[in-house]
Amino acid sequence: MSFTIAIDGPAAAGKGTISKAVASHFGFAHLDTGLLYRAVGARTLDGTDPIEAAKALVAEDLEADNLRSPEVAQAASKVAVIAEVRAALIDFQRAFARRSGGAVLDGRDIGTVICPNAEAKLFVTASAEVRAERRYLELSDKDIDISREQVLADVKERDARDMERAEAPLKPAADAVVIDTSDLAIDAAVAKAIAAIKARR
Ligand code: C5P
Repeated sequence: MSFTIAIDGPAAAGKGTISKAVASHFGFAHLDTGLLYRAVGARTLDGTDPIEAAKALVAEDLEADNLRSPEVAQAASKVAVIAEVRAALIDFQRAFARRSGGAVLDGRDIGTVICPNAEAKLFVTASAEVRAERRYLELSDKDIDISREQVLADVKERDARDMERAEAPLKPAADAVVIDTSDLAIDAAVAKAIAAIKARR
């Protein structure tokens, strides 16, 4: 059996937490596709050409420990506008989505471009202010020194770049269930996600 769950949305909306919880609930494998773009972005910081980096990407690159930094997040959204970079990452994502036993993929274009036929699609969002506050707390927790204002500015800059790009812009698929987590505790958001997916099974 293959069953694909596509979870898209902007940075720090709760996609990652919801995706992990959903994958564990259904016993499915999970791929955080942002890591692919982060791994490519990280390589460009040491001067590698982004298209070459995307073509040479291997699964182990997704485990590098610097991928969660704010610099790498910005670099990721810059390489993500390049059509050839996106194209080089498609096969890996689609193969993952089709694995037997079920898969959850989270990102920006899973329901629209990578897996348009996914059995269930969610679009997880929240206000920029709520998302920036969550990301600020996450970064503070990791002792990354950055101000709240800077995190909000980064989130807004990345949103704009992700939504306005020509290739695979961030937007909900027409058949996605939208979950706004601005006023939802994580347990409630996860419960909504699971209920929406069960309705498709
Ligand atoms: O999800 P995350 O914040 O880790 O993603 C980093 C960046 O990678 C995003 O801002 C976006 O530009 C890009 N990305 C994308 N398509 C995806 C996943 C991430 O363009 N499916």
